[in-house]
Amino acid sequence: MVFVSSWLSLGLRTTLVEAVNFKCNLLMCILTGLNPQHDRSFMISYMPDNIKGIFFDNLIASDVKPSFLNQVALLARDVTIVNSPTVRKITISRHLNLTTIAISKTSLATVSVDGPNEGLTQLTIMQSLLTKIPVDLRHLHGVRLVDIRNSPIETLDLATFCTTADLHTLRLVRTKLRSVVNSAKATCSLTLEELDLKGNDLSVINLELLSSCYRLISLDVSHNPIELVTGSFMNRAITKLHMTENQIEQLNCCQWTLSALDELKISDNMLTQVPRCIRQLKNLKVLNLSGNYLTHFDIRSLAGLNRLLNLDLSNNRLTSAKLNEPEGFLANLKSIEITNNLLTTLNLSHMAWLPSLQVFAGNNSICILDLSHTALDTSRVQLEPITCEENHADDIN
Ligand SMILES: *[C@@H]1O[C@H](CO)[C@@H](O)[C@H](O)[C@H]1NC(C)=O
Ligand SMILES: *[C@@H]1O[C@H](CO)[C@@H](O)[C@H](O)[C@H]1NC(C)=O
Ligand SMILES: *[C@@H]1O[C@H](CO)[C@@H](O)[C@H](O)[C@H]1NC(C)=O
Ligand SMILES: *[C@@H]1O[C@H](CO)[C@@H](O)[C@H](O)[C@H]1NC(C)=O
Repeated sequence: MVFVSSWLSLGLRTTLVEAVNFKCNLLMCILTGLNPQHDRSFMISYMPDNIKGIFFDNLIASDVKPSFLNQVALLARDVTIVNSPTVRKITISRHLNLTTIAISKTSLATVSVDGPNEGLTQLTIMQSLLTKIPVDLRHLHGVRLVDIRNSPIETLDLATFCTTADLHTLRLVRTKLRSVVNSAKATCSLTLEELDLKGNDLSVINLELLSSCYRLISLDVSHNPIELVTGSFMNRAITKLHMTENQIEQLNCCQWTLSALDELKISDNMLTQVPRCIRQLKNLKVLNLSGNYLTHFDIRSLAGLNRLLNLDLSNNRLTSAKLNEPEGFLANLKSIEITNNLLTTLNLSHMAWLPSLQVFAGNNSICILDLSHTALDTSRVQLEPITCEENHADDIN
């Protein structure tokens, strides 16, 4: 496809006071200041054929009506409404045949859908005044992505999405979400593959609610004030679980059966111990415990996680780290990050088996480094910056 960046521009003064500005290239048109009530014929007569998208900047309407959207759908597949403070409501008709609707920087507070709609595949709403997830979204039977950001939504009821059988991705990012519930009957199975709840106000997350999301691959609840993670969680699909930047003091994985989980990120929390039963997560490849309050670490707590590649323990308060216990030998480990701790000794003398392992151990107070019997050499143990505070550092090698 050739992207033509030269724009055809038109500025017309219509019968009303507002001036409509109109710019098009081969792919899209931007209309600024259109009032659907008065300027609709204008839009039809000047719109080129076969454009993909129409971009309404400062659309002057409080209610975006089905008749208007249906007419737009005859001209293009994708509609964007931006910087339109008068827009408060949008109504999507069951017959609307648009692929995507994106609404950003409006006063949108109501979204209705007047019946089962098969056409719409993406709905994006940013910087709106929505306080609830519109229940009518259940009628969007063809929707694959729902992405709502920076809007004051407080509750997510997963039951809304029991009938959206194509929904893969649900993102509620930087909304004001305080609770996630699921009022659905047992027969509802959710088709979600990605659930992104970053940057909300969640303080508790009950993973059991997600049991009906049998296809879920990725869950992100980073940047919340989560203190408590509860519920049993059984899922064969999930590979990524991100809980970075929360306030979790204790995490217990004993009720988790997540046979495919390969990435667990719990960095920047308040953990004082390695999560209990973490050894059940047999497929784990990346474990990030950076930025917690761990004081002691023993590699045996990870025994059996034979697929683990990257272990990040940096930015904790470790005064001891037992890494060379033969019972905790992890055959595939590629890197251990242990920078920014309070270690004085690093004993890697039993890690002879791991020729490709890299250990990053800078910013500790390591005065005693034991690399005897190992295939590791100082090139793979990074100690910079060295901060040994003893005068006579013993370097046993
Ligand atoms: C929707 O629009 C597409 C592309 O213009 C067309 O192929 C399809 O038949 C339309 N569907 C309906 C139900 O009108
Ligand atoms: C662990 O998380 C921290 C903070 O989020 C990040 O900077 C670091 O790169 C991560 N480590 C790995 C090995 O991905
Ligand atoms: C490192 O650990 C091995 C095995 O546990 C031990 O024999 C050795 O003395 C230790 N090295 C130091 C410097 O403590
Ligand atoms: C070491 O710690 C200092 C002070 O906390 C910090 O500024 C620096 O970036 C750290 N260096 C590394 C390699 O993490």
